[in-house]
Amino acid sequence: MQSVFWFLAFIGHGALWVELVNRLHGLGWNRKLIDFFTQLCGAACCGLPLVAAAILLLRSPGEAAPSWLVAYAWLSIAALAVVAVTRVGLHWDPSRDRRTKITRVVPVELHAKLGRGATRDRTLDRIATLPGNTLLRPQLEHLTVPLERLPKPLEGLRVAHLTDLHMSGRLTEAYFAELVDEVNAWRPDLVCVTGDIVEHTPQLEWVDTTLGRLESTLGSYFVLGNHDAKIDAAELRRRLAEAGLVDVGGLLAAVERQGETITLCGDERPWFVAEPPLTGAESLVLCLAHTPDRFGWAVRQSVDLVLAGHNHGGQVCFPAIGPLLCPSRHGVRYAAGTFRRGRTVMHVGRGSGSLFPLRYNCPPEVALLTLTKG
Ligand SMILES: [Fe+2]
Repeated sequence: MQSVFWFLAFIGHGALWVELVNRLHGLGWNRKLIDFFTQLCGAACCGLPLVAAAILLLRSPGEAAPSWLVAYAWLSIAALAVVAVTRVGLHWDPSRDRRTKITRVVPVELHAKLGRGATRDRTLDRIATLPGNTLLRPQLEHLTVPLERLPKPLEGLRVAHLTDLHMSGRLTEAYFAELVDEVNAWRPDLVCVTGDIVEHTPQLEWVDTTLGRLESTLGSYFVLGNHDAKIDAAELRRRLAEAGLVDVGGLLAAVERQGETITLCGDERPWFVAEPPLTGAESLVLCLAHTPDRFGWAVRQSVDLVLAGHNHGGQVCFPAIGPLLCPSRHGVRYAAGTFRRGRTVMHVGRGSGSLFPLRYNCPPEVALLTLTKG
């Protein structure tokens, strides 16, 4: 019985610190401060069980465990219960959108196409091709998204959604060029890129040859994410604009099709603080947001469609459990998928690239949304 108690406490301890790290990364704090607290959490998560094991193993026969350790163990078990109940409850989350349909999923076998040319070097190639690693198998997900306020002339509007490319040099320029070719082949009306685009300064040179080749009838639009704030964000905005993409971070843009106006806005908070100046009089609003944590704001603003990313679907999804790590104030609730509250629909992409070279049960994604009235 004692061993079951300590085992549950150990699992609960892990769950407690993982939840703390998730919430921490949902804050808009300075990157160095977040990295410092993440390392602190990592040290506590790994170190506390070692200290506890040493205390339990070295105590005299019959000696009781210290009261602080027993109290912490009960706290961990309580945390495990809360996390487990919350996880199970997510299956019945009323904001999960059951009206949006995934009509087709097309895997793109980039390792078969590019061979070792998909990653920077042999080591990354070996990691990327580990059994079960879906890093080089992005999926083109075709979705039909019913929107309540969609005017008739906009029915069938095709919106391509790329997010979290994380151009770092680990995945090559050729990898992203292939994704762009796939988007162009679909012939979208709009292309939306929702942040975490370039990770390191040398990859600014790739903007023109990758995203700069995007083709659509109504244009390509972007916002930046938290990782873009690690490099010169102003320079990235300038490069993207030069490559023909429109910056909507904290701004509005209007596009017309057959006499109907679509208002595009960008919400980059909490990392870039400008609020898009919506008036409430717009006919149809499409919001590009980096984090799905902006969903509540979008609902209050009566936005029709939100496109977001940031959470990467959790990156590693365990069978039956799902993802553990999600940098969100809502934990794993908005890891990926489509959500609906009132007339506001939000699509959260799993990310079209990755910085970390492992993805399990969580392939990269390019979403191709067809809007319908409904
Ligand atoms: Fe992000």
